Amino acid sequence: MNQESKFLLIDEVFTPSSPIENAELFTGREQQIAAIKEAVREKGQHAIMHGLRGAGKTSLANMTLYLFQNLMSIKITCNREDSFNSIWERALRKIRFAENNKTIGFISSSRTEIFPIEVPPQNMISATEVEQILLSINGNMLFIFDEFDMIKSKKVKSQMADMIKLVSDNLPHVSILIVGIAESVDELIGEHPSIERCMKQIELPLMNDNEAKDMVLRNLSYLKMNIDEHVLLKIVDMASGFPNYLHLLCKYAAKAAVRENNVQIAVKHFDEAVIKSIENSDYTIKKTYAAAVKSASTKNRFADVLLACALAEADETNSFDAYDVLEKYNRITGAYYKKEQLHYNLGMLCKKERAEILTKTRKSKTTRYKFSKPLIKAFVKLKQHEEQLK
Ligand SMILES: Nc1ncnc2c1ncn2[C@@H]1O[C@H](COP(=O)(O)OP(=O)(O)O)[C@@H](O)[C@H]1O
Ligand SMILES: [Mg+2]
Repeated sequence: MNQESKFLLIDEVFTPSSPIENAELFTGREQQIAAIKEAVREKGQHAIMHGLRGAGKTSLANMTLYLFQNLMSIKITCNREDSFNSIWERALRKIRFAENNKTIGFISSSRTEIFPIEVPPQNMISATEVEQILLSINGNMLFIFDEFDMIKSKKVKSQMADMIKLVSDNLPHVSILIVGIAESVDELIGEHPSIERCMKQIELPLMNDNEAKDMVLRNLSYLKMNIDEHVLLKIVDMASGFPNYLHLLCKYAAKAAVRENNVQIAVKHFDEAVIKSIENSDYTIKKTYAAAVKSASTKNRFADVLLACALAEADETNSFDAYDVLEKYNRITGAYYKKEQLHYNLGMLCKKERAEILTKTRKSKTTRYKFSKPLIKAFVKLKQHEEQLK
């Protein structure tokens, strides 16, 4: 295989900016898969999956195509302008049913044709109308509403909640999966006691180190490539659980190795990948970071404080307190700072002029902090590595 074809293969295997479609390239998430299966199989049960941007929600939702036999899985992506009608119109338009068409002739053959169903105009779509249409269809169906966090209207959220209740009570062959960026279920769909019992809550956490390692090794084995063990650990550490950063780093590291006709990824390939991954990170992340650390002097304390934040021991809500940061800060810089001295910097990083890169949260009287855009945590670590290479 020539170099150009190897590059193409790498681009197919490592896809930092698109969700996984191919089940062979999907790794881990056993617990969440089991939870989705359970919700779909149990009549009247539905599910709501939430997690951070980049955690892998859409990829997991795509896998439902392969998880069930005899189930039609329909996924639509919500957007800001959507109403109850427009969401369901798009969903209904995606329904295809198969009809066996026997042609009698010299040789009797049977072929299956796929038909769309007739969908009324958007303004005619109501909960009862949707119910009628779904009632008329045989076979199990799963409707997935991805990026439901785009919907801000309380009214649309309540209408969806009512629809879920209705489906739960009357349409045992239909399951609904709501997916979106949120820390809690209430944030995604609002509080609706009537659907609490029929909605399974599925949290999709970031990848743990084992899932991350598995993913990298498995994808590299498709490419017939290897990686030095300590480079693997570095990639896993830098990605901080975000699968898209794993893909980004591996893609450029693999290309750097191939360029040298190597099948083994070594430190120098990783170093090159860090620089490329920074360049290819989302524009908003780069912009936020630059605004947060801008400084007139060469000694930039904000960059060190941010790095300390990225390294600080975070709890399950991804937040940390000033002590956690202080410990890391003193270790990085060799300083003997006191907590009060860091308060100024942490406070400033929560302000507009520093792009509100951190957000304050509270837990039983103590102030805690978190990255407003969680992906920045990985980016900050990449920047540190780039600094060290200079
Ligand atoms: N289970 C997985 N195995 C391998 N790669 C994954 C997995 N989940 C997500 N990814 C990768 O991570 C990135 C983000 O995934 P995506 O599904 O778009 O996240 P989300 O929808 O939560 O923002 C994509 O590059 C995707 O290819
Ligand atoms: Mg998504």
